[in-house]
Amino acid sequence: MNEASQQNFAFSITTPIYYVNDLPHIGSAYTTMAADVLARFHRLRGEKVLLMTGTDEHGQKIQRIADELGRSPQLHCDQIVAGFQSLWHALNIHYDCFVRTTSPRHEAIVKEFFQRVWNRGDIYLGQQQGWYCVSCEEFKDERELLAEKRCPLHPNKVVEWRDEQNYFFRLSQYQLPLLTFYENHPEFIQPSYRRNEVIRFVRQGLQDFSVSRINLDWGFPIPNDPTHTIYVWFDALLNYITGSVASDQEPTIHHALNYGWPISLHLIGKDILRFHTVYWPAMLMSADMPLPGQIFVHGFLTKDGQKMSKSLGNTIDPVALVGRYGSDAIRYYFLKEIEFGKDGDFSESRFINILNADLANDLGNLLNRTIKMAIKYCDRRVPDFSPSRISDQHPLYSIAVNLGDQVSQAYTRLAFSQACESILTLIRAGNKYVDEQAPWSLYKQGEITKLYEVLYSVLESVRLAGYLLAPIIPTVSNAIYQQLGFKIDLNASASNLTTESQELPDFSIHGSWGVLRAGDELGEPYSVFPRLSDLTPIDSNPETGSIQ
Ligand code: ME8
Ligand code: MG
Repeated sequence: MNEASQQNFAFSITTPIYYVNDLPHIGSAYTTMAADVLARFHRLRGEKVLLMTGTDEHGQKIQRIADELGRSPQLHCDQIVAGFQSLWHALNIHYDCFVRTTSPRHEAIVKEFFQRVWNRGDIYLGQQQGWYCVSCEEFKDERELLAEKRCPLHPNKVVEWRDEQNYFFRLSQYQLPLLTFYENHPEFIQPSYRRNEVIRFVRQGLQDFSVSRINLDWGFPIPNDPTHTIYVWFDALLNYITGSVASDQEPTIHHALNYGWPISLHLIGKDILRFHTVYWPAMLMSADMPLPGQIFVHGFLTKDGQKMSKSLGNTIDPVALVGRYGSDAIRYYFLKEIEFGKDGDFSESRFINILNADLANDLGNLLNRTIKMAIKYCDRRVPDFSPSRISDQHPLYSIAVNLGDQVSQAYTRLAFSQACESILTLIRAGNKYVDEQAPWSLYKQGEITKLYEVLYSVLESVRLAGYLLAPIIPTVSNAIYQQLGFKIDLNASASNLTTESQELPDFSIHGSWGVLRAGDELGEPYSVFPRLSDLTPIDSNPETGSIQ
């Protein structure tokens, strides 16, 4: 790679930029929540982080929907974008940069990049014939299609025959370079079963793909031939470079390389695997730019086994879900309940059960009853016990001693569900320990040293659990910290661009055992996560009343 790139960020992460054919659904929220969790985790480690997201606003799909609604495409985009941004706010997502593909900054990057690839000789004029799915904005192999030429991802839509002049990108030239790159960078595509799938696909040989459309206005014109517009996917992938330019710099590839590019991690769903793991790296190679560090591919949220999608209309409205249950509940459910990488179904009754069991009962009650005892028996202070006196065999310490490392590794591997399970082990052991030790009897029997040890070790366990869960449930974790008497705001992991001075409690200290200090004053106890009641499910079928 010719141009030097300076790594400004210890960790940078992107979400896909979402189509604005409709308001966001829970699937768009899923990727964005996971990205926010990772960004928060890295910020807790004191790293400089860049999290970017945005919207994909060009192409036929968007133009058609705007036409149907009788609006100009730009007005349509502006309205839907506002819906995305307000959902991210409601879900407590702290992004550093929001890229809109209709922005002039993005246009400058697309033009410059296209020119580079053009100068390289990788673009030529040809004839495109094939079946096009407008919902995917992608040509489909006839073999992939369902009966009556329906798209497997959008079974309610038929594909359309196209036979037109397009500009093509010489993807076929990149088969060997790509295979060599995958070989030399085994971490590039994760999980490994996706990597194998991509390698199998590329080994079969690659066809050039068209990068322009005719008879479509809603896009950027091809610099050397304005009768064509740039294909929406070619345009969209470049958002990652636009977002890598510092906001106060001119939008150039050079500035992207001096600031955010290459990104450490692209987070995507499996529907857009080939675009990110085959087309995108080939485009970057052609433009002589470094490739991203990793592409992590997650599964689908499904409803009755079918991918939830805006085009299908079988989605759950995240705005209704947040309005009813709050952001932490939603973040927790999706990250804990679904193994990241695999598909997962949503059921509201399961949702309520998990949250009540884990957060209201196990975590919330443990804190609440222990703080109340500390108020009563220890004068509202952290019990007088030095953590250095704890024995290696102590039932909580023996779990807590390695927990920070375990959880840190789980977050690093994007094994969110495992991170939660490990933390729950400590919380459950804490409840068992309180029941067995019965601090109220220790008090009656005058066993004060033991009483302090018990209360200290439980409070410290809840603190540690709360801290380790902070990337996922920042509001609850912060409430735990406030009750334990800390003055720091665990939820303040706002974007590093706006609040660089915000100090977060560092993982290297707070992620380990023994942070609470004897004698420090505790805060007011209140329930950090009130029990959810069994309301009428949001996804219930009004006819049968059954949960789908
Ligand atoms: O594909 N389950 O945008 P998109 C899990 N604009 N994740 C889901 C999901 C589901 N049911 N449905 C959507 C596009 N997602 C392009 C991307 S990037 C340069 C351009 C998530 O609005 C998942 O991350 O269709 C998926 O990859 C993405 O939303 C697709 O969003
Ligand atoms: Mg889609």
